[in-house]
Amino acid sequence: MEHQPERPVSQGTVAIRGALLDCIGDPFYQPEDQAVRYFADGLLLVREGQIEAVGAYKALADRVGDRPLIDHSGSLIIPGLIDTHIHYPQTGMMASYGEQLLEWLERYTFPTERKFADPAYARQVADLFLDELLKNGTTTALVFAAVFPASVDAFFEAAEARHLRMISGKVMMDRNAPDYLCDTAQSSYEESKALIEKWHGRGRLLYAVTPRFAATSTEAQLKLAAKLLDEFPDVYLHTHLSENVSEVAWIKELFPQYDGYLDVYDQTGLVRSRSLFAHGVQLTDDEFRRLSEAKAAISFCPTSNLFLGSGLFRLEQAKNPEHPVKVGLGTDVGAGTSFSLLQTTNEAYKVAQLRGQKLSAFKALFLATLGGARALCLEDKLGSFDLGKEADFVVLDPQATPLLALRNQGGIPQTLAALEDLLFSLVIMGSDRAVAATYIMGERAYSSKVASL
Ligand code: GUN
Ligand code: ZN
Repeated sequence: MEHQPERPVSQGTVAIRGALLDCIGDPFYQPEDQAVRYFADGLLLVREGQIEAVGAYKALADRVGDRPLIDHSGSLIIPGLIDTHIHYPQTGMMASYGEQLLEWLERYTFPTERKFADPAYARQVADLFLDELLKNGTTTALVFAAVFPASVDAFFEAAEARHLRMISGKVMMDRNAPDYLCDTAQSSYEESKALIEKWHGRGRLLYAVTPRFAATSTEAQLKLAAKLLDEFPDVYLHTHLSENVSEVAWIKELFPQYDGYLDVYDQTGLVRSRSLFAHGVQLTDDEFRRLSEAKAAISFCPTSNLFLGSGLFRLEQAKNPEHPVKVGLGTDVGAGTSFSLLQTTNEAYKVAQLRGQKLSAFKALFLATLGGARALCLEDKLGSFDLGKEADFVVLDPQATPLLALRNQGGIPQTLAALEDLLFSLVIMGSDRAVAATYIMGERAYSSKVASL
């Protein structure tokens, strides 16, 4: 797994032909036909990694010039998928049997994360993790590292080598965890600060201040996390919130003077517009309202919520137009059961069904692309094919497997109704096998046809 950090500027200047689909609005609040943009025979012009033009092939063909034209006709090209919550140190512990959240953390998670004190091991897993993301069409993620600063270095070095836009941070955890994983309020502040100064804004990399969850932080540590947000206003806050009933009860015991789980984060200064809270399965209506007011975001992690038996996220309450909350999708590996955001939309659809709701294919696409970009305040750079955005995109083969080929015999759709049907087949049946290629800044970073690039 050798990667070249440097590349000539002339690379990332390409023309891509194929069926192009992206979201230009939010289909939860707008008519779906106005929220999506589709060119059955489209052309994407990319210059030095940025989108220069998008449109019908016929309309743009004479602007290709001398750039290489890559023909993906027969495939559906969408913006790179965005995973708004995942743990890279948990890559090797997916499918850990039999427990719900708090026991699962103690029995499996903490011993696994201990191994990330070793920088060489951390780098090995970070490489595998990022290759897995690319194979699944995920081009940006908000990523928990481990408590050890070297685990953050290993992750960012691996991401930098692949030119990826990634957000990560050191876990802050000063109580209710084994000694071998605990920092102190002061050391977590100092180590996080040094990592922010080293990595935040370096190339495409961004930093998230990352207290694990309120149960493993003292009030003093949460307040120092907020101090970092004051000192570095464009870094993120990334944590877990209201995932599981026993967890919520435990938070009430640990913080009796606060008015519920979100209030712990709120009164310590952590509920902000660049804050992303994973799960929110057990949130009250008032808490949704407060998140909306603060313009904070939630990562909806259906495979994890089902695997750990945490519950069914109330997506329609988060997207309630009276108090809209930004929502992205998260795989939450290793509680999540797949790296694939297509498999994650599949489970999101089923969670909606169990709650008597519908999640349309275009809404699912939005959550995995532009919705994720908005949740991460990156909609000026990612999430659609708008001009000037970074050219991270995924080529999906609607006939990738014999089953998909049977399901999608019609080939590339010409109408929005036919497109919705084809997209739904990918939302439900898609996985890494449907990903034909993944491009980063206009350069092919993964191809299903080439074993290694
Ligand atoms: N809450 C605190 N830590 C974790 C974690 O590692 N995974 C999940 N799913 N929830 C958590
Ligand atoms: Zn998590």
